[in-house]
Amino acid sequence: MDDLDHTRCKDSRQVREHQLFDAIAARYCCKDLLPASRRARWLRLEQTLRDMPLSSTTQLLEVGCGAGFAARYLQGRYGSYVGIDQSEQLIDLARTYNASEVARFHATDIARYEPETRFGGIFMIGVLHHLTDPVRILELITEWLTPDGWLVVNEPQPANPLFSYARRVRKHIHKDYSTEQEEISAAQLTAMFTEAGLCDVCVTPQGLFSTPFAEVIIRPLPLARLLSVSACALDRALEKTARPVLHRLSWNLIAAGRSAPA
Ligand SMILES: C[S@@+](CC[C@H](N)C(=O)[O-])C[C@H]1O[C@@H](n2cnc3c(N)ncnc32)[C@H](O)[C@@H]1O
Repeated sequence: MDDLDHTRCKDSRQVREHQLFDAIAARYCCKDLLPASRRARWLRLEQTLRDMPLSSTTQLLEVGCGAGFAARYLQGRYGSYVGIDQSEQLIDLARTYNASEVARFHATDIARYEPETRFGGIFMIGVLHHLTDPVRILELITEWLTPDGWLVVNEPQPANPLFSYARRVRKHIHKDYSTEQEEISAAQLTAMFTEAGLCDVCVTPQGLFSTPFAEVIIRPLPLARLLSVSACALDRALEKTARPVLHRLSWNLIAAGRSAPA
């Protein structure tokens, strides 16, 4: 495949992704409105940002923010929040549910975004593997960090064969699930963060029992609500007591890295 074919192939993948998320935006947003999935998604966010120092002056950027509920879940813990997503439909929902004086949303492809400021924290949840050139984007956004600023991503990982199999099956049976879905190993994430120029790179596991509730609207809703409470409590406990074992079991990995000091 020559360079031009490669670029065309990447472009068509991005178009498919854009169309998919526009088409499923309303259903996607429901995951943050229904209690069972909302609880698990809130936990995933908390666990993802556990090493990012947040304060009332932190300027946050979320890339691929979807319907922007992170702005609400983190309310009071940042100075300003900018959420960007290439799906116009998701950004419309983000503005409806989550815009505030300190939380703004833009519909744009990350590669075209021109930030007005630098950020103390940039994060992406489930986004890196959707990007056509992830290392280039990591390099780009690392330049948007303040000195000592943190970049954190949460990504599906391949260490648990059972979960990888479940993802492959879901690709075939669930029309809302991106067929571009890929998994990134801890070693690959570490290499990508290091190549992007980040320091103190650290990769940790996230999500065992709670992740299915974060990803899928499970029915019947009242039963899912009860089960999600237990799943989130179990994952909180496991994170404190069994993190080394979780590395080989968890659904996701969190990669965190810091930009160079001034
Ligand atoms: C799996 S969803 C995750 C959404 C949200 N972070 C969450 O946890 O629910 C991936 C998101 O990344 C967005 N996305 C994919 N490629 C993008 C790009 N090049 N620029 C901006 N957003 C992008 C999609 O539109 C989608 O909303």
